Amino acid sequence: MPEKIVFLNGEYLPVEQATVSVLDRGFLFGDGIYEVIPVFGLKPLRVDEHLQRLQNSLSRISLDNPFDDESWKQIFDCLLEKNPGEDRAIYLQITRGAHPVRDLKIQAENRPTIFMMVLQVGVVDVTELEKGIKTVTIDDFRWHACDIKSISLVANVMLREQATQSGVVDAILVREGYVTEGTASNLFMVKNDVLITPPTSQHLLPGITRDLVLELAEENGIACEVRQIAEAELESADEIWLTSSTREIAPVVNLNGKDVADAKAGPMWKKMINIYQQYKQELRQA
Ligand SMILES: Cc1ncc(COP(=O)(O)O)c(C=O)c1O
Repeated sequence: MPEKIVFLNGEYLPVEQATVSVLDRGFLFGDGIYEVIPVFGLKPLRVDEHLQRLQNSLSRISLDNPFDDESWKQIFDCLLEKNPGEDRAIYLQITRGAHPVRDLKIQAENRPTIFMMVLQVGVVDVTELEKGIKTVTIDDFRWHACDIKSISLVANVMLREQATQSGVVDAILVREGYVTEGTASNLFMVKNDVLITPPTSQHLLPGITRDLVLELAEENGIACEVRQIAEAELESADEIWLTSSTREIAPVVNLNGKDVADAKAGPMWKKMINIYQQYKQELRQA
């Protein structure tokens, strides 16, 4: 196994040598943001869109972007070169750094902590994916800033644990009767050949995979609707999917103990996963 090289505050180091202060506000307060960028071959997927979302998250928490887009891309290339592989993902995290006094107040002189590593996520196995996942609906008790890709993920951890305790893989979150997203994914529903997903808002993360799926669907003549989905509508859905960078497009085959459609990945999913795999293959070869 080759040595894992990470990026920390301008240096490339073996992971064992990369250390951060215990006074870091990321450690003390969860005061920071992150990104996960899938990489196919040597090509990061939708890198400009990820960098735009990074900028949005940073602006929302009043943290300056330490680099311009070109510098970020150079660092990604360098880190990927030092951590060879096929399908991988770049994990990137920026916190507000360490300060000698533990105080919520933002200190102007704080230097951010910038950390990046390569995750060896492996090639997604479509046959495995096709088996689908079981889910339950759970009340979405998170805050009104879910559009920020915040490292404060304790609420998501609690919701995932509630799903695990119910014996399923993930939760579909519901706020005031309407579906928001999964614990680490966005949600799509298929009804009468129309692909439907909730609009972006402060109650869900604007997923890069979500946008890509919508774009590819429209390019391929699939009718799409971006609108609120009432929890009750899920019961009569033809298909339900959860999408994310690492999970790609996962068909939901069981919800709250009841099979979705005939408990198999549906025809729209089969069409879309092929389009998605094709898109990835073109990216690898570009
Ligand atoms: C809460 C949440 N929603 C949605 C997503 C999907 O986003 P993306 O498609 O950019 O991976 C994630 C990914 O981690 C997430 O954590």
